[in-house]
Amino acid sequence: MVEAQKNSYQGPPRHHHTSLKKPLWLVLTVSVLSMILICTHMSPKHIKTSSKTLSSAWLPVHVRKLSDEEIAVRAVVRDILKTPPFITQNPKIAFLFLTPGTLPFEKLWDKFFTGHEGKFSIYVHPSKERPLHISSHFNDREIHSDEVTWGRISMVDAEKRLLVSALEDPDNQHFVLLSESCIPLHTFDYTYRYLIHSNVSFIESFVDPGPHGTGRHMTYMLPEIAREDFRKGAQWFTMKRQHAVIVMADSLYYSKFREYCGPGIEDDKNCIADEHYLPTFFNMIDPMGISNWSVTYVDWSERRWHPKTHTANDISLEFMDNVTTEAMSTHVTSVGEDGDELHWPCKWNGITRPCYLFARKFHPDALDTLLNLFPNYTSTAV
Ligand SMILES: *[C@@H]1O[C@H](CO)[C@@H](O)[C@H](O)[C@H]1NC(C)=O
Ligand SMILES: *[C@@H]1O[C@H](CO)[C@@H](O)[C@H](O)[C@H]1NC(C)=O
Ligand SMILES: *[C@@H]1O[C@H](CO)[C@@H](O)[C@H](O)[C@H]1NC(C)=O
Ligand SMILES: *[C@@H]1O[C@H](CO)[C@@H](O)[C@H](O)[C@H]1NC(C)=O
Repeated sequence: MVEAQKNSYQGPPRHHHTSLKKPLWLVLTVSVLSMILICTHMSPKHIKTSSKTLSSAWLPVHVRKLSDEEIAVRAVVRDILKTPPFITQNPKIAFLFLTPGTLPFEKLWDKFFTGHEGKFSIYVHPSKERPLHISSHFNDREIHSDEVTWGRISMVDAEKRLLVSALEDPDNQHFVLLSESCIPLHTFDYTYRYLIHSNVSFIESFVDPGPHGTGRHMTYMLPEIAREDFRKGAQWFTMKRQHAVIVMADSLYYSKFREYCGPGIEDDKNCIADEHYLPTFFNMIDPMGISNWSVTYVDWSERRWHPKTHTANDISLEFMDNVTTEAMSTHVTSVGEDGDELHWPCKWNGITRPCYLFARKFHPDALDTLLNLFPNYTSTAV
């Protein structure tokens, strides 16, 4: 299972010998000089201001000359964000399933989708074997796919493959990435309204100052990706169409993660591409356009290498009600012995709302319990 391997990898260190790092002092000097030129040009009165005073007084440390590639990416991103989304007659949500093979909760998803035909589309990326389907909604929904190695860029490549397949249908307005161990927490109608009318993408992005957060930043990522811009977040996103297009348009930042973010990339660094690329990228290019929390619930309270897997015995109506009504998000950092927790309220278009639409990780033996409780727990939150 893709997820079972997650966070348990302790592979041998891999060394990188290439250094693309540009002389930072040169870039900084050029930036400072051009700022001084601009300033003296604009206000002749201040001609005598020394460069020292200027730079230390108000010049932000990260001001530098951008490369042609960076200028190009930023121009494309700005243009996409400024263009109002093209709303079709029949807006749909694309559900993107990233799975090794057969989906253990297909029967539950079938229950979720039935009766809402025409408002969703399903795409399945099996990375190991061809799934067997029991629901007609899932028949022949496999896309061209490839192997996925935990922590490596192949995980991000699979996400991009799913996004691009779903972008081909202009009706798809919001895109949801799900794993084989994910379950739905609300009715289809609730989920549809929550996502279609949201003014942001739900991408978790936070600063983890510990070794499994900012500690995974590599100097090779400079100057394009500054250490203070580096973010962490769960892989399981939902994304507006504009953001999906932007992900397709980026090759610059993507290539930094492809080259310099992987398990054992340096002696003590286990950089996990899918936990950092999108959280960092969106923090840099559209920080106000993402929620910073994920709509997919997960339980890290055991503080193990992988999150808690919920079996049939862990599930009760009370537990499900707790998860579906939770309105405070939790983010676990790697600071200190046991990590630290960050919390903030889940704001949906400015209103505090339940955080979670989906939940992971669930053991396949929980299927029958969940099928029985589905009508009860999905009716709780309004
Ligand atoms: C998300 O976090 C970034 C900083 O990391 C912040 O600039 C941005 O305003 C936050 N987004 C929202 C919607 O609060
Ligand atoms: C549900 O939440 C309440 C209040 O936080 C807590 O006391 C209870 O133990 C939770 N129940 C389950 C099954 O998680
Ligand atoms: C989303 O809506 C809230 C509430 O109206 C607003 O404060 C926020 O700026 C909006 N965000 C975007 C990206 O439009
Ligand atoms: C779920 O709802 C049904 C119908 O309202 C009810 O008969 C059943 O007892 C409920 N189950 C639980 C565990 O509360």
